[in-house]
Amino acid sequence: MTSLAPPPEEGFDLPPGFVARRLTPAELDAVQEVERRCYAHPWPVEIFARQLETAWASVYVVSREEAPERLLGHVVYWVVHDELHLLNIAVHPDAQRLGLARAMMGHLFAVARARCLQYMTLEVRVTNAPARALYEGLGFRQVAYRKKYYSDNGEDAVVLALLLDEQGNPAPEEGATPR
Ligand SMILES: CC(C)(COP(=O)(O)OP(=O)(O)OC[C@H]1O[C@@H](n2cnc3c(N)ncnc32)[C@H](O)[C@@H]1OP(=O)(O)O)[C@@H](O)C(=O)NCCC(=O)NCCS
Repeated sequence: MTSLAPPPEEGFDLPPGFVARRLTPAELDAVQEVERRCYAHPWPVEIFARQLETAWASVYVVSREEAPERLLGHVVYWVVHDELHLLNIAVHPDAQRLGLARAMMGHLFAVARARCLQYMTLEVRVTNAPARALYEGLGFRQVAYRKKYYSDNGEDAVVLALLLDEQGNPAPEEGATPR
């Protein structure tokens, strides 16, 4: 019988002094606090709780090694069949522009390689310039446009995708290799 191995925990090339680990149920309030600082329309804590009960979902958090209880970022993704879908990535304003989101994206690439996935997808608000710069710098390209996708403020979404080769690496014609 084949088993669905959990995604590997490697691939976080974090700046010195930072660590990543899976979110635990005891940290739901802490992760929601980061969420609240990052978004005008944050996910409620129930959505994070639901991810922890979902077999195909993964939630990782980042903190400083010396203060593990103070969460500084999180990434939430699903692996379904041959696709990795990124649902959420956020870094506390106190820790932005340090490379934490790039490191979390690096973890996604490690998962994709380990599981030989064929593509990664995500939706991003059309006005979210920092996130779009992050994704487009890694080779994601627009594949669809969803008008009024976000029910909270009626904003449009851009759907981005990145095709992967047989090893789960970005397919050369799709853009840049992640740094
Ligand atoms: C988007 C976000 C996750 C980036 O996190 P971060 O840890 O600061 O990003 P990094 O330091 O890893 O930066 C990686 C790249 O992203 C892009 N980037 C990040 N912040 C940026 C900004 N404010 N303006 C322009 N580009 C930005 C840059 O290309 C950057 O590379 P560089 O530093 O070599 O120029 C963070 O701004 C955030 O949490 N925003 C609010 C939540 C959100 O919008 N999440 C995305 C939902 S789709």
